[in-house]
Amino acid sequence: MKKRIFSGVQPSGDLTLGNYLGALRNWAKLQDDYDPIYSIVDLHAITVKQDPELLHHRTLQNLAMYIASGVDPAKNTFFIQSHVKEHAELSWILTCQTYMGELSRMTQYKDKSQRHGDSIPAGLFTYPVLMAADILLYQADLVPVGDDQSQHVELTRDLAVRFNNAYGQTFTLPKTYTSPFGARIYDLQTPTKLMSKSSESTAGVIFLLDEPDVIRRKISRSVTDSIGLIQYSDDQPGVKNLLNIIALIQDKTIEEVVQRLEGNGYKALKDEATEAVLSVLQPLQHRIYQLLDDPAELSAIYTAGAERAREIAAVTLDDVKRKIGFVL
Ligand code: TYM
Repeated sequence: MKKRIFSGVQPSGDLTLGNYLGALRNWAKLQDDYDPIYSIVDLHAITVKQDPELLHHRTLQNLAMYIASGVDPAKNTFFIQSHVKEHAELSWILTCQTYMGELSRMTQYKDKSQRHGDSIPAGLFTYPVLMAADILLYQADLVPVGDDQSQHVELTRDLAVRFNNAYGQTFTLPKTYTSPFGARIYDLQTPTKLMSKSSESTAGVIFLLDEPDVIRRKISRSVTDSIGLIQYSDDQPGVKNLLNIIALIQDKTIEEVVQRLEGNGYKALKDEATEAVLSVLQPLQHRIYQLLDDPAELSAIYTAGAERAREIAAVTLDDVKRKIGFVL
């Protein structure tokens, strides 16, 4: 039997080049050897305030983006998280098995909660438990995510072990799957910070639907350094990030890219990065708009996906409920 994969993306903002290179593109490479299930995790998105109309639009747009990235609906299961009620239910059960200390150690919580002053939504705190429920419901073996999510996958493993020890073998222990280079794409203006769809400033964030001129401008203004050498060094996070982006898109090693560009100024590096990004985003955008023009097709995909997801999730949840003593 093929190993099961589960992953998700929040429809909390427009998807970025970071999501594409860190997640979506890797997904397309896994579809022949695994049984992948992907969710548009709308329950996660509402941990921070969302505009209802935008949330609705982005949920469908995310699905279109998955498919346009080459993740084939015939080989992958796609569903919208709120269509499968088992997620919220298992999440509550696991919340009762999770310690406050564990959740307060989550780096993403520490970062995100700072933006909320005294009014931190409780969902932002318990959100990793919902993520654990997402993964464990499907008995996933592998979770392809960017580095920023690996702490949450670790917590998922801890919760699975705790539950299995208390009630007997119930959950498969999942592993993080990260690609060697795709794991982190940084903000072009603050290359020490991840490129994020929920950044306050968008100047350093390339969105998948950005117009070519916008992409050119954002890359040409990207922050580099005064060292002036094209090399792959931790002292030059801006240059390193652009080299990573080029190597990933062109499917080349960093050494190959550095060798080709060495001796040039940063303008050549930025031009190369722009060409690379446009070469991948222009066809992607065309396909996204085509898919968004066919809502019936999208609806058929997420409806069938939810049916399959529900079948799998219900088996796990029933097992959990029986084990903890609920009357079924
Ligand atoms: P989210 O929506 O923030 O991001 C979706 C995926 O994109 C990756 N990613 C990046 N990778 C490289 N560089 C970047 N700059 C970058 N920005 C984002 C993320 O690592 C992620 O893989 N909690 C998750 C969603 C989720 C989930 C799950 C994932 C909910 N349930 C179960 C896996 C399994 C999140 O907020 O991802």
